[in-house]
Amino acid sequence: MAEIDSRKTIVLTGASRGIGHATVKRFSREGWRVITCSRQAFAEDCPWPAGPEDHIKVDLADQEDVGIAVSEIRHRLEAHGGQLNALVNNAGISPKLKDGGRMNSIETPMHVWRDVFQVNFFAPIMLARGLFKELAAAKGSIVNVTSIAGTRVHPFAGTAYATSKAALGSLTREMAHDFGPHGIRVNAIAPGEIDTAILSPGTDKIVETIPLRRLGATSEVADIIFFLCSGQASYVTGSEIHINGGQHV
Ligand SMILES: NC(=O)c1ccc[n+]([C@@H]2O[C@H](COP(=O)([O-])OP(=O)(O)OC[C@H]3O[C@@H](n4cnc5c(N)ncnc54)[C@H](OP(=O)(O)O)[C@@H]3O)[C@@H](O)[C@H]2O)c1
Repeated sequence: MAEIDSRKTIVLTGASRGIGHATVKRFSREGWRVITCSRQAFAEDCPWPAGPEDHIKVDLADQEDVGIAVSEIRHRLEAHGGQLNALVNNAGISPKLKDGGRMNSIETPMHVWRDVFQVNFFAPIMLARGLFKELAAAKGSIVNVTSIAGTRVHPFAGTAYATSKAALGSLTREMAHDFGPHGIRVNAIAPGEIDTAILSPGTDKIVETIPLRRLGATSEVADIIFFLCSGQASYVTGSEIHINGGQHV
């Protein structure tokens, strides 16, 4: 009979770069099994010790693909007694104009709104609903990655991005209400200016006004995600934690 893997398990979207990559490293350092999701296939030359069996290739912009990924994840969780300890909805897109400028509410094409909302908002709820049984079985938790742009106009983040993150923040509240009685905690983190590829040229000007006067590191975000998924946050649900060096004040 196959041995049951006793490690805690996290499913993490957008694991290939930036905040997601730092989160993979944080959880694996703590001995968790990390199932990563991104559009890229598992690279054989990847230094990551986990094999392709812990990677799911999925385009979150494609609803059908998300459905297939959910079935595949559930199948792979069977080896863990059908339990999932954490789902982190981290993948996100923030389209810009050709010159890097902000896409505003007057001119953003409808297909951009649709893609942004599919990746940033619908994919998180599709994954959470699809993996509900496994999360409930583990009394697991969900972390949705929102943004400071969800609560104020940002010089570079576009309208579709900002409103998708605001919606994800509201969804976190609704989910905390609905998932809580099943033992699942649901929280959000709202990063400010974190040092990743998503940042636009000119961010250095914003940094001059941030109380801590620096960009955040991806590891600082990963630490809070880990905290929220750990037993130390066992009575925390429905919250949205700012990780922004005081930018929101
Ligand atoms: N960096 C910041 O300052 C900042 C601030 C506020 C909020 N955030 C939020 O934090 C999260 C991570 O940001 P980041 O800066 O680390 O972003 P990033 O470096 O641009 O990485 C984005 C990740 O999302 C994945 N992704 C994008 N579109 C996808 C799709 N259609 N299907 C599957 N995966 C997809 C990418 O994977 P592949 O390209 O490999 O598929 C990548 O792993 C995002 O939700 C972002 O909105 C970031």
